[in-house]
Amino acid sequence: MEKTCRIGVFDSGIGGLSVLRACQRAVPHARYYYYGDNNFAPYGSRTKGEIERRVRSALKLFERLGVEIAVLACNTATTLCIEEMRREFSFPIVGVEPAVLPAARVCRRALVLATPRTVGSERLRFLLSQTEHCEFTLFAPPRLVTAIEDHVLLGKQIRLEEHLPVGSFDGVVLGCTHYVHVSEAVSSFYRAPVFDGGEGAARLVSRLVKERENCQLFGNDDHFCDESHGALIFTNCQSDRTYNDIIFLGKTKNLNEFAYKRLFISKS
Ligand code: DGL
Repeated sequence: MEKTCRIGVFDSGIGGLSVLRACQRAVPHARYYYYGDNNFAPYGSRTKGEIERRVRSALKLFERLGVEIAVLACNTATTLCIEEMRREFSFPIVGVEPAVLPAARVCRRALVLATPRTVGSERLRFLLSQTEHCEFTLFAPPRLVTAIEDHVLLGKQIRLEEHLPVGSFDGVVLGCTHYVHVSEAVSSFYRAPVFDGGEGAARLVSRLVKERENCQLFGNDDHFCDESHGALIFTNCQSDRTYNDIIFLGKTKNLNEFAYKRLFISKS
């Protein structure tokens, strides 16, 4: 039996894998659950009610699996409903937000790329109101999330010039976790540094893990398959305990596992 913390990471699809990876670097000895809701993505153009329902159902699943810390690795879900979810669930929920504050510290003219929901959110307006001396341009590329899913999962090429606005910026905030998968290309496109909230979220997760004095004991095969979620959960975790203890959940678990391997394992 090993003593470890269980951390659930959620996103609308493969975007949250970059946050999962950051969390793994910050807290290597945890057991991770990854739930990507790819069949329902992109979230950016869904209604607030629809997104809330999907997030709640994922968090309920995490709750049943004994998750001790949940990460909403999705700027859209965080900006729209993290407060409601924190009121409903007893475990801590860490969100990922557009990193406008770090960008404002070093930039004078920055671009924020995010989904339509995030760009229109009160939370982003609030974050921007906390910044000084930096002029922000907000832009929601309508098809970039889907293009990135297709790029990572199907190997389709992305032409960034079809998705990104023309302009001169001294920094770009990646306000959607999917965009982090093309961060180097975005940085070259604008010849500017990029900022994202994934590392900040991972640092917070690490702090929370350290603060927890009594992490639960974890043994093999200790998660279950509930009939009502039959299609969503692996029944036998032993064969799925690969890649530093990640269990992929949900109907598209195979896609996310494939994307994880493609993004991080084949490159290392
Ligand atoms: N990856 C998500 C985000 O950070 C959502 C992308 C989407 O499904 O539209 O906003």
